[in-house]
Amino acid sequence: MNFFPLSPVDPLNPDPRLIARATEALRRGALVAFPTETVYGLGANALDARAVRRIFEAKGRPQDNPVIVHVASPDDVPRLAEVTDVAQMLMRAFWPGPLTLVLVSKPVVPLETRAGLPTVAVRMPSHAVAHALIAACGFPLAAPSANRSGRPSPTEAEAVWDDLGDRVEMILDAGPTAIGLESTVLDASVPGVLTLLRAGGATAEAIRDVIGNRVELQMAAHGGEAHRSPGTRYRHYAPNVPLLLWEGERFPAIGEKRWAYVGVRRPVFSDGLVRERRAKSFEEYAAMLFSALRELESSGVDCIVADWPQEESGIARALCDRLRRAAGG
Ligand code: TXA
Ligand code: MG
Repeated sequence: MNFFPLSPVDPLNPDPRLIARATEALRRGALVAFPTETVYGLGANALDARAVRRIFEAKGRPQDNPVIVHVASPDDVPRLAEVTDVAQMLMRAFWPGPLTLVLVSKPVVPLETRAGLPTVAVRMPSHAVAHALIAACGFPLAAPSANRSGRPSPTEAEAVWDDLGDRVEMILDAGPTAIGLESTVLDASVPGVLTLLRAGGATAEAIRDVIGNRVELQMAAHGGEAHRSPGTRYRHYAPNVPLLLWEGERFPAIGEKRWAYVGVRRPVFSDGLVRERRAKSFEEYAAMLFSALRELESSGVDCIVADWPQEESGIARALCDRLRRAAGG
């Protein structure tokens, strides 16, 4: 294992020698963390069951929570899964980008990768470093978010280092990620219906625009459909101090506490406010939420207050989902 795994890499033009080093490590079955446009991923050869088991050990991830398989091109998918016409259409419209498709798996994908399910989740990230890495490997990369299980997803290499520094061979550091929340997970494995399992960078509105009325698009009820996306069962994204939500006009009761704030609106009072991170839009709020939670929790406060978006469309739907879970349900 490297003494210091952080390797700076140009986000747009990755050095081929660095990519070759990372590829060599992955070929040996080692773990390499890499940037995507959403969050950093903890990568291993998706077709190597032993390498994938290392991901679960490093993260402390429950065995029944499958990981996403990252590809370099839509052409890589037919080898891994059954591609329906609708899936084809969605790949053409959204890839490369933050849409993960759950499809019926082919046997080549080890059961470790899909946690025993008959389906596999696939996505083609749009980050140049992720693309260069997967293309150079020649095999797909299984990669969950590169955090310890239950912690906020890492949007910067330093956060990967904090959570997993001693458990990875290499961390490709390309600076902060652009979107900041994980990809949209869409179940396309059932004929005639698409189910949104996790809100993310690809919005329900944009998906509807592409599919028209060819198939039904349903939202997985929070909790209700959770068995279909095992990851949604677990408490996630939790900072290590309580997170209180500022919904509508109801500002949380703070009393004498020292607190920190993250959000778009200006807090209505500032007694005891120690630190704040303000965004100008929901997009900017999404991009900084996880890094803000990590920064604010270590600023010596008793709690964090987070602004709850008043709408549940576009990226705000994903923000609401992550905030709800970070606040504990
Ligand atoms: O943006 C992202 O998606 C990032 C980057 C690294 O690509 N990855 C990520 O992976 O967020 P992870 O493991 O943290 O979240 C994957 C989600 C989990 O909720 C998991 O349960 C779900 O996708 N998932 C994976 N395979 C599935 C399957 N076959 N059926 C249903 N849900 C699945
Ligand atoms: Mg995750």
